[in-house]
Amino acid sequence: MDITENQGRPLLKDTLAVLNPATGEVVDTVKCDSIGEINAKIVSLHHGFQKWSKTTADERSILLRKWYDNIMAHQQDLAKLITLENGKPFKEALGEVVYAAKYLEWFAEEAKRIYGRTVPASSANKRIIVTREPIGVVAAITPWNFPAAMITRKVGPALAAGCTFIVKPAPDTPLTAFEMFRLGYEAGIPEDVMGCVLADGKQVGELFTSHPLIRKVTFTGSTAVGKELIKNSASTVKNVSMELGGHAPLIVDKEADLDLAVQQTIASKFRNAGQTCICANRLIVHEAIAGVFTSKLVQAVSLLKVGNGLDESVAIGPIINKKGFNKIVNQIKDAVKKGAKVATGGKYIVDDDTNACFVYPTILTNVDDSMIIMHEETFGPVAPIVTFQSIDEAIRLANDTPYGLAAYFFTENVSRGMYLSENLQYGVIGWNDGGPSTVQAPFGGMKESGIGREGGSEGIESYLEVKYVSIKLAD
Ligand code: SIN
Repeated sequence: MDITENQGRPLLKDTLAVLNPATGEVVDTVKCDSIGEINAKIVSLHHGFQKWSKTTADERSILLRKWYDNIMAHQQDLAKLITLENGKPFKEALGEVVYAAKYLEWFAEEAKRIYGRTVPASSANKRIIVTREPIGVVAAITPWNFPAAMITRKVGPALAAGCTFIVKPAPDTPLTAFEMFRLGYEAGIPEDVMGCVLADGKQVGELFTSHPLIRKVTFTGSTAVGKELIKNSASTVKNVSMELGGHAPLIVDKEADLDLAVQQTIASKFRNAGQTCICANRLIVHEAIAGVFTSKLVQAVSLLKVGNGLDESVAIGPIINKKGFNKIVNQIKDAVKKGAKVATGGKYIVDDDTNACFVYPTILTNVDDSMIIMHEETFGPVAPIVTFQSIDEAIRLANDTPYGLAAYFFTENVSRGMYLSENLQYGVIGWNDGGPSTVQAPFGGMKESGIGREGGSEGIESYLEVKYVSIKLAD
C-alpha cells in the first residue's frame, strides 16, 4: 500500500462524539486523525525506536513504574471516565483501572528479566550467544469492553521490551485511552515512544498491517476481524498477536460446592454485563444437581439491579450499542422460539430517543444444540443451561466449538478436576474460579480464539526478536 495515499484527509469525520451508553448523552467530542497524521506518528515512533531501544532496562522500568503511579493517583477519575463511556458499574471500572495499572507495574519488573543464553557449541573454538532484542514499532487495535486494561497489557510489555508503540482504541471508548496516555507523558514517557490515534478501524487496520515501518500488530477483538488482520499482515510478514473471541463453557459437576459455583458463575457471566471475551457463555450442569443449581442461580441473578453504572446499587450496566444489543436479543428470541424457557430475565429495554439499551440478566433452560446461543459468542448477560450425565459428555460439549479462550468448572473432586483441566482445549481455565484473569498469568486462547499470550512472564516474549551470534575464535 502507498502510505502517502489519502495524505491529510480525515479517515471518517474530523471529530467523533463519544456517547454515554446509559443515557445517550455526549460525554466528549474528540478529534479524529487523518492517514497523513497517523503516518507521521508512525515515522516519529520509528525514529523514537532508535533511542528507546538503546535505553537500559532500568530506565524503561522506572518510567513504566512512574506511569503506574500516576494512573493509581488518578484512579477515581479514570474509573468515572470508563463508566461514562463504557457503561460498566463504577466499582467494576475502578477494578479495571487497578487491573490495567498492574500490567504496567508487572512489565516494569519484567523489563529487567529479558535474559539471553550462551549455548555449548559443537566446535571447541566456537561460542554461541543468544540475545533477545525489541522487535520495533508495534501497532495495537483495542476494544471498548476494557478501555484501559486491554491497552496496558500491550503497551506495558512493548515499552518494557524496548519497542515503541501506537494504539487505535475503539471509537466507543477513546477517552480513557487518551487520558491514560496523557498520564504516561506526564510521567515522563516521550511522545516519540508511544502514541494514541483515532480513526476508522478498517482503514487503520489496513495501514498498520501493511506499513513498512511497523513490525508487529497486536489486536484484541472479534475472530472475524482478527482473521482479516492476520491475512493482511502476511504481505509484510509481520509478527501478530491476536486475542480473539470466546464461547466459554462453565461446567458444574455433581460434586461442586453449589453456593460457590453460583457466586462465581455470576462473577464470570455478568461481569461488564456479559461483555467480555472470557464470560461464561454456556452453563453445562450435571443432571443430578441441575435443579438445585438452577434455582439458586435464578434467585441470585434476579437480585442484580440493571441501570446506569454511576448508581452504586447497579450491577448490570447498559449494552455498549444497538448492534451489540440486537445480537443479544436475537439470540434470546431464537432460543425461545426453539423451545427454551426463560427462568429469569428475558426483558430488554431500548430507548428510541437516546439509543440506550439494557438487557436484564437472563437464564435460559430447556436449551438445545439447535439454538444460536449454543454456537455464537453472546457478549451479553444471558446464560443458557444444558445438562450432562458423564464427565466425558461434559468435555465433548465444552470442546465442541472453534473457540478456545476460557473455560470454567466447579468440582471438589480433585481427580475429576485434573481430568477436566487436562482435557479442556482452552488457554485459560478457572477451577472453582470465575475470575481467573490476573497480570501474573499468560492470558490467551487456543484454536480460533487467538495467537500469543498477554501477561505473565510469557507476555513480553512476542515483543522480542531472538538473535544468535556464532563466534569463531582464532585457532
Ligand atoms: C477480555 O474480555 O478480552 C479480557 C478479559 C480479562 O482480561 O479478564
